[in-house]
Amino acid sequence: MTRQENERLQVAIDGPAGAGKSSLAKALAQRLGAVYVDTGAIYRAVGLSIARQGGDCRKPEDVLPRLPEIKLTLDFGSDGLQRMYLNGEDVTEAIRDNAVSAYASQVSAIPEVRAFLLEMQRQLAAEQSVVMDGRDIGTVVLPQAQVKIFLTASPEQRALRRWKELRAKGQEADLAVIQAEIIQRDYDDSHRAAAPLRRAEDAVEVDTSALNLEESLEALYAVVKERAGR
Ligand code: DC
Repeated sequence: MTRQENERLQVAIDGPAGAGKSSLAKALAQRLGAVYVDTGAIYRAVGLSIARQGGDCRKPEDVLPRLPEIKLTLDFGSDGLQRMYLNGEDVTEAIRDNAVSAYASQVSAIPEVRAFLLEMQRQLAAEQSVVMDGRDIGTVVLPQAQVKIFLTASPEQRALRRWKELRAKGQEADLAVIQAEIIQRDYDDSHRAAAPLRRAEDAVEVDTSALNLEESLEALYAVVKERAGR
């Protein structure tokens, strides 16, 4: 076995909300026989927990005292899909609520929250080959990843995709509101002081605005082949 085959594969995928990270990372992981780790789910679970307790996710004084009580667990079923547990409760569906997106973004701006979640993410990548998506995977969580991809798409395309997703789930959605929320969240995620969203210097940028899912997947797979030889 060559050194490369023997090594755990780390694929870091970062980018703004709605660029297609989760669908593509999931499909890519399946193709590579790796586990897909959705790190946004972890921030979402923290935000959900604080909001449920009546805390304001923007206020460190509300969030930090509650952190030690938050027990997060990820479970990867035989289908390779991630389930998120908050103090033993399966919150996989609950964290997808649109309101939770804002809570997640707010808690993620607090440096102590990021530090609290860092080791957990690194540990997941140490145990198995992973395709991990988030905002700071290539820059902070896995700076040694063999493959780094920065996935983007225009705000219009991203809003349209999220709108379709919500509609498919039977949730009420206003396209203009979603687009405004996406632009706001992009701004917040890329302007916060702690680990802002930015492309790692050695990341390959892939713009999926004009690509469908299959074409995007091929583009990502080509990057993996080039960078990691598999
Ligand atoms: O990927 P997502 O939309 O589920 O992420 C929710 C929020 O969590 C997002 O607004 C920013 C934050 N996040 C982060 O700061 N770092 C990560 N690695 C993943 C998500």
